[in-house]
Amino acid sequence: MTGTTKIKKNKISKAVKSTKEYKPDKLNKSKKSSESKKSSECDRSVIGIIGAGKIGEAIISGLLSQKVKTRTQIIATARSTGRADYIHKNFKIRCATDNTELVSRCGIIILAVKPQIISSVLTEIAPHIKEGQLIISVAAGVTTFFIESYLSSKNPVIRAMPNLCCQVNAGMTVLSKGAHAEDSDADTALKLFEPVSKVIVLEEKYLDSVTGLSGSGPAYIYIAIEALAEGGVKVGLPREVATLLAAQTAFGAAQMVLKTHSHPALLKDMVTTPAGVTIDGIMELEEGKFRVTLIKAVVKGTERSKELVKI
Ligand SMILES: NC(=O)c1ccc[n+]([C@@H]2O[C@H](COP(=O)([O-])OP(=O)(O)OC[C@H]3O[C@@H](n4cnc5c(N)ncnc54)[C@H](OP(=O)(O)O)[C@@H]3O)[C@@H](O)[C@H]2O)c1
Repeated sequence: MTGTTKIKKNKISKAVKSTKEYKPDKLNKSKKSSESKKSSECDRSVIGIIGAGKIGEAIISGLLSQKVKTRTQIIATARSTGRADYIHKNFKIRCATDNTELVSRCGIIILAVKPQIISSVLTEIAPHIKEGQLIISVAAGVTTFFIESYLSSKNPVIRAMPNLCCQVNAGMTVLSKGAHAEDSDADTALKLFEPVSKVIVLEEKYLDSVTGLSGSGPAYIYIAIEALAEGGVKVGLPREVATLLAAQTAFGAAQMVLKTHSHPALLKDMVTTPAGVTIDGIMELEEGKFRVTLIKAVVKGTERSKELVKI
């Protein structure tokens, strides 16, 4: 971690909170009145998700299961009526295909469409965006500057990179603030993602790397789990047993890293008895370039994120 990196969600909360507390209530009256004007114009308790696809669904599911929002406080859209109906039926929330209607009803707008169509969605909704509405984009490779360039008012924009594991409240989310976002806006975003993921706030220059690591990372881990399970099948284990063993091993190994704060190499050494079983397995991994392949996967993902949307 670098000096610019703010670590751990409780530390971040404290940092954001302390900034909030620092604002003197009685001073700065003009700012206060403009803030109350903003909040009267849009109700930030209502959140709209444009693009209720895989990650949109994961966010909806997490927000409802963790009781961060009620069903009437979440609205979503999809491109097709089929998808909108599916979301409506499964989550009992309002889900349609009209983005401008969504924008008119929400104080917080989450953009969860593919990066390739973000431009057309922004063109569609920009004339309807009101001052004070908070825009959170989860689209890979889309900068806050890109989004701000479509808006006529100085709306707060937050770029977020969650991952699919938000669906089971075990996600990883990194946030960064746009030019007009205050600490209080980051705090608002943090409160949305915190119940479903660990959250840290970083400078935006890190967000493509984050995308290549924790954004795409679940896919890499699924491949590892699948491959370990295949190994189990190869040596005679029933498939369900092999998959359980592989997944719980990945879960436990991750928990060890997070809870002991030990370097992964030290934990690996603890499993690797001299002349034992594990070292033979590790030799196979090294021969197969397992380590360098994972490094290259993160590098490629990062590069791809950088080239997705060019301004
Ligand atoms: N998947 C992940 O793990 C993950 C993680 C972090 C960030 N992200 C980011 O999240 C975004 C969505 O990814 P995804 O994997 O969830 O993709 P996805 O499953 O294809 O979801 C995109 C959704 O957008 C909807 N949509 C398309 N055009 C629309 C429009 N004009 N108005 C409203 N909705 C529209 C689609 O509706 P239809 O279903 O009707 O076509 C679809 O439901 C991407 O920018 C990606 O970079 C994804």
